[in-house]
Amino acid sequence: MAIQVVILAAGQGKRMYSKQPKVLHRLGGKALLEHVIATALKLSPAESPIVIHGHQGDHLQKSLDHYPVRWVEQKEQLGTGHAVMQALPVLVDEDRVVILYGDVPLIAEQTLTQLLTITPADAIGMVTAHASSPAGYGRIKRDAKHQITGIVEEKDATEAERAITEINSGIYVIPARCLKKWLPALSNHNSQGEYYLTDVIAQAVNENIPVHTVPPATFEEIVGVNDRVQLAELERFYQRQYAEKLMRQGVTLYDPNRIDIRGEMIVGQDVVIDVNVICEGRVVIGDGCAIGPNTLLRDVELEAGVEVKANCVIEEARVAAGSMIGPFARIRPGTTLGRGVHIGNFVEIKNSEIGDGSKLNHLSYVGDSEVGKRVNIGAGTITCNYDGANKHKTVIGDDVHIGSDTQLIAPVTVGMGATIGAGSTIVDDAPAYQLTLTHRLEQRSIKDWKRPEKEEQT
Ligand code: UD1
Ligand code: CA
Repeated sequence: MAIQVVILAAGQGKRMYSKQPKVLHRLGGKALLEHVIATALKLSPAESPIVIHGHQGDHLQKSLDHYPVRWVEQKEQLGTGHAVMQALPVLVDEDRVVILYGDVPLIAEQTLTQLLTITPADAIGMVTAHASSPAGYGRIKRDAKHQITGIVEEKDATEAERAITEINSGIYVIPARCLKKWLPALSNHNSQGEYYLTDVIAQAVNENIPVHTVPPATFEEIVGVNDRVQLAELERFYQRQYAEKLMRQGVTLYDPNRIDIRGEMIVGQDVVIDVNVICEGRVVIGDGCAIGPNTLLRDVELEAGVEVKANCVIEEARVAAGSMIGPFARIRPGTTLGRGVHIGNFVEIKNSEIGDGSKLNHLSYVGDSEVGKRVNIGAGTITCNYDGANKHKTVIGDDVHIGSDTQLIAPVTVGMGATIGAGSTIVDDAPAYQLTLTHRLEQRSIKDWKRPEKEEQT
């Protein structure tokens, strides 16, 4: 029997106080709904997951258009039962329908696989958990033989029912045949005037259809995000889990509570990461790399043995083996560093290729440049790549030495093995293997000069 996944995401998310749809708020750098879609896809559903959306459907679809999803609109939010009903036209009787929520981002594939495994195809399975504070959740009612008899929503519950600690996660697998029969018959005669999906459980019990339950591996799997406080709590949980996964793969984290991974991180062996490192997008870190404190890495690939010292910002860059960056360096998009490159403090590099073994140790800006191998760029060197209207390229050959405080006015080429004298402004191409320098003012000294002295205050 074919598995289909329906993800409910039509709720407004009022308590977020946001112009954005709730399910686009981010957890670990990805939209809440993105987490759920990714998990749904891991179940290998027969067809792409169905997302039930409300307002701002266009915005949702645009934001997540890289996922194979069937979008179905629920024009009015009349309850969870009504939401699932919107998917009925695209389901056939034989489907097994897994119901997930766009704002319950951390449900794990393993829990869902277990749910599908223990539930026979013609029965109902649901994820339930025991909660120390069950407030807000629907409660699972069982009879003396521990058989499920139904779910009662908190707002409709008696005091005795509210004392029940087994709660409904809202996540189920239900045969489409049953949904087609029961959903159109739901009533909204309850305290919220909504069509409750939960009412189908009592219906199943009526018709002697067995109801199975599985627990999630951790409670956080079934926690929904209703406000930004819950979002932050879940973010911390997610980050801690990610950190533990990394440590189990052989990464040393000086403090697993002070790393944030907003995307995916692929790490080699014996990587050491100091505190307050933030990784965004896709970050690949090779064997034996060391990342210093307070560093941001976004869409970065570091080969083996790269050392990033404290306080660096590296974005959209590739760094070859054994290079050293920082402290206080900024590597901007489009940059490639060769093997064993040294980038020191207060150096900014943008859209440039730096050859193997080259050194830019202090206070430089290199943009739109091609720098050869074994080049030494002195402190305070600037490639003047922008004439106020257009960007121009600087090309520096292998084995060039550029003296401190040099300005290279692009477009300009410095030939292989050339030396540029300190303090030069290079406007024309500098020939290979020669010393090129610009006119210097004559130096003079004044023999009897005295430093001014502070006047006495009267
Ligand atoms: C629901 C369950 C409750 C369970 C809880 C778990 C029902 C009636 N109750 O309650 O038993 O303990 O989830 O978190 O199902 N949605 C729509 N369209 C609608 C209404 C809701 O798409 O018309 C979506 C929401 O966006 C949300 C989800 O369904 O993602 C749950 O809706 P919500 O109103 O939050 O249900 P709860 O009251 O939390
Ligand atoms: Ca909810």
